[in-house]
Amino acid sequence: MRILSGVQPTGTLHLGNYFGAIQQHIELQDLSGKPEDAFYFVANLHTLTTVHDAPKLRALTRDVAIDYLTLGLDPKKATFFRQSDVPEVCELTWFLACAVGKGLLERATSYKDKVARGVEATMGLFTYPVLMAADILIYKSGVVPVGKDQQQHVEMAQDMAASFNAAFGKEVFVRPEWRFSVAPVVPGTDGAKMSKSYNNTIPIFLPDGMTDKQAMKTFFAGIKTDSKGVDEPKDPNDALMTLYRLLDAAKAAEFEPVYARGGGGYGDLKKRLFEAYNERFAALREKRRAIAGDDAFVEGVLEEGAKRARDVAKRVMAEAREAAGVVVARGTHV
Ligand code: TRP
Repeated sequence: MRILSGVQPTGTLHLGNYFGAIQQHIELQDLSGKPEDAFYFVANLHTLTTVHDAPKLRALTRDVAIDYLTLGLDPKKATFFRQSDVPEVCELTWFLACAVGKGLLERATSYKDKVARGVEATMGLFTYPVLMAADILIYKSGVVPVGKDQQQHVEMAQDMAASFNAAFGKEVFVRPEWRFSVAPVVPGTDGAKMSKSYNNTIPIFLPDGMTDKQAMKTFFAGIKTDSKGVDEPKDPNDALMTLYRLLDAAKAAEFEPVYARGGGGYGDLKKRLFEAYNERFAALREKRRAIAGDDAFVEGVLEEGAKRARDVAKRVMAEAREAAGVVVARGTHV
């Protein structure tokens, strides 16, 4: 059974992305260890809904690929590719659009949220869930590991698979199931869900040239707490402890009773948190620089991934055309 997920290249990846999605993607590549069973892609076409700046989109697309490779995505165990390298996905988007009711899309909460936040209400933004359904269905994916914010989109893909199959009387598409990671909600520096749009993120990789002292000050010192003194009992499920548990479960388990009883201060925990963060990610900064300097490697991985993904997409798209009676000349869709 195939696992698939996509990641939008929208900016610097943060701990919310890591614990909410990336970590699980990377673990799941070991489930079978075979690249045909784990498909991950950079969803650059989805980012066209929000980024209209060619050099920026190019850079974001490349950066997220480098991040995944640095964090452990192994092209021998997973198929890693760019969404735009599989044009059949756009073709399937149209087929699905013709089988899904407009009402289903009108119920999408993420569309409404984005428009409320000022994203331009283009047809692309409205059709976003159809493109996402095509991403999932074109590889007959069985499991889609995502954060909670994407649950509705995967459920819409289930509906679209069923409507297409019913409309054309053929079981072309498989019903995909969503799956949450261990940490569906990662708190940000203000205690709300960590999200780029809330401006409360801690990046996985520090900006180039930032010192430890600056990093502590910029990302950790300001994590919101109340004003309890060192000796007062504290909430073991507050943002600080939740982040600590994610970064270093063993040390967090040791510290938790002290914290809950009283005797562990906020300042102390912030320092521990920064140490745990560094232990986890500092060594990877060097690896990231090496990968970022090796364009041929990055491009090679993506090309190989695209070949494998496209191979599947072409076959499934041919089934969908056949079911729908859409004829194409021999040799035109190779
Ligand atoms: N919409 C997803 C997000 O913003 C990214 C995405 C695009 C995706 N296509 C997908 C995720 C297919 C899972 C499956 O996080």
